This record gives sequence, C-alpha cells and structure tokens, in this order.
Amino acid sequence: MAKILIVYHSQTGNTEKMAHAVAKGAKSIEGAEVLLKKAGDATLEDLLTADGLAVGTPENFGYMAGMVKDFFDRTFYHAQEKVFRKPFVVFISAGNDGTGALKAVERIALGYKFKTVYQPVIAKGVITEEILQQCFELGGTIAGGCQMNIY
Ligand SMILES: Cc1cc2nc3c(=O)[nH]c(=O)nc-3n(C[C@H](O)[C@H](O)[C@H](O)COP(=O)(O)O)c2cc1C
Repeated sequence: MAKILIVYHSQTGNTEKMAHAVAKGAKSIEGAEVLLKKAGDATLEDLLTADGLAVGTPENFGYMAGMVKDFFDRTFYHAQEKVFRKPFVVFISAGNDGTGALKAVERIALGYKFKTVYQPVIAKGVITEEILQQCFELGGTIAGGCQMNIY
C-alpha cells in the first residue's frame, strides 16, 4: 500500500482547494493511503513513513509560505539520508506569478534529495476546474507511480 503525504498551507483557501483535489486524485488509486496535513501539523514521522510527498503552498512575497518553510526547517536534519529519492511533487497558488515559490521549493527538494516525479501545478488567480483537474492528475500520478513502485 502506497502512503502519500500531502503537506500544505493556505490562508484564504486556494491552496487548500488544490490540496483536496490532489488528495482526491491520490485516493482514486486503488490501495493508496492518503494523509492530508496542514504544514503546521505535519511531523517528521509523517514524512519518514510516506512513500511519496506532495507539497502545496501559496506564493507569499515571492517565496513559499512561512508555515511550509517551517515544516522543512523542522524536518531537514532528521530526514537527511532517510528520504533519498522519495517521490515528490509540488503545487502552488499565486496571485499572478508563482515562480519565486516554485524555485524556492525546488531548491529545498534538492537539499533533501527528493525525486521530482511530475511537473508542478501553478495556479495564477482563481482556482479553476482546469487547475483542480491538474491537481487531481498530480495526485493520481504520484500515488499510482508509488503504488506500482516505478519511481
Ligand atoms: C502576504 C502575501 C504575499 C503575497 N505575495 C505574492 C507574490 O509574491 N506573488 C504572487 O503571485 N501572489 C502573491 N500573493 C497572493 C497569493 O499567493 C494568492 O492570493 C494565493 O492564492 C493565496 O493562496 P491561499 O488562499 O492558499 O492562501 C500574496 C498574498 C499574501 C497574503
């Protein structure tokens, strides 16, 4: 059974909608177990026991949300060498950009040595049905790949 951890922060609900769509996509894979956690509640154990990780953040001041950074700050040292090539995807809600948050998350993912397994979903402005569909696919892809052990 593949366990997918989805860690996100959301202030006004946009990233949260995306996170729920990622979770729905992951749950659509038979046998996948999904753990959806707000970044402030997500623990090192959640990370270590997950087979795949999806991180969602709004872009704030051209960077990831502080709560998502806090999750990385809290887990980095203890997770080092234990999460090598753990499958990873990212989704971002931005007002009009998203590149700063993406770059920052990608740099941190490199530090953990996660393996990015699918292109990021970046929403600019309103969360559309198309974005939610992309998030569904993102969740289905990481869960399906983990379930089939292809990463
Ligand atoms: C403090 C703050 C800073 C922001 N900075 C950016 C930014 O640098 N670039 C951008 O495109 N949007 C920026 N936004 C807009 C948010 O990224 C956008 O509203 C996003 O959808 C919020 O997601 P949430 O509802 O999950 O919190 C900012 C919003 C806030 C509150």
